[in-house]
Amino acid sequence: MASALRSTFLVGSLRSASLNKAAATYAARMLDQTTSVNIPDLGLLPLYNQDVEDLRDPGPVSDLKAAVLESELVVIFSPEYNYGIPGALKNAIDWLSRPFGAGCLLDRSVGIVSISPGSRAGENVREQLLTVCQALSHHAFPTTLGVGVVSELKDGELPDHAKSALDHWFGDLMRYVATES
Ligand SMILES: Cc1cc2nc3c(=O)[nH]c(=O)nc-3n(C[C@H](O)[C@H](O)[C@H](O)COP(=O)(O)O)c2cc1C
Repeated sequence: MASALRSTFLVGSLRSASLNKAAATYAARMLDQTTSVNIPDLGLLPLYNQDVEDLRDPGPVSDLKAAVLESELVVIFSPEYNYGIPGALKNAIDWLSRPFGAGCLLDRSVGIVSISPGSRAGENVREQLLTVCQALSHHAFPTTLGVGVVSELKDGELPDHAKSALDHWFGDLMRYVATES
C-alpha cells in the first residue's frame, strides 16, 4: 500500500551514536505503515552563502529542498548545543528558508523534538526552534516534545520511556497534521 503521508526528518546531531538520530530512526520505523520518511544527512550541506545561492543551489541543497517540498510534514530532532540550535541544523534551516518569504517550510507542518541527557530536555533549543519555525511555516506544531535524562543508547535503541513519549507525541502530531491539511 502506498504511504499516505510524506515526511522529512531533520536531525541536528551528526554523530553516529546520537540520541536524536536514534529517535528519528525509531519514529520512521513506528510510522512505516502510514508515512514515508526521508532522513537527509545535514553534514553534506555547504555553509549558507548568499553569493553561492545567487549562482545556483549546490547539489545537496537542491536535494534537501526537493525532499522537503515533496513532504507534507517536517520533523526536527535536535540536541541543544550551548543553549541553542546546533550549527549544522541552523545551516540547513537557513538554506530551507530561502527565497525570503517563500521558503520550503512555509506550507509544511513542522514538529520539534529534543532528546537529551539533561533534565531540562532541550528546553532552550525547543523554544528557539519553535520561534524560528513559526516564522518560516504556517503550520508549526506548538507542542514540542522534550525527553530528558536519556544518557545513552542500549544496542542502538532508546530507553522505553523515550519510545513511549515519542509514540504519544506522534499521535498528537498526526492529529494536528490532519486538521491543518
Ligand atoms: C557542543 C555541545 C554543546 C552542548 N550544549 C548543551 C546545552 O547547552 N544544554 C544541554 O542540555 N546539553 C548540551 N550538550 C549535551 C548534549 O545535549 C548531549 O551531548 C546530547 O547527547 C547530544 O545529542 P545527540 O546525542 O543527539 O548527539 C552539549 C553538547 C555538545 C557537543
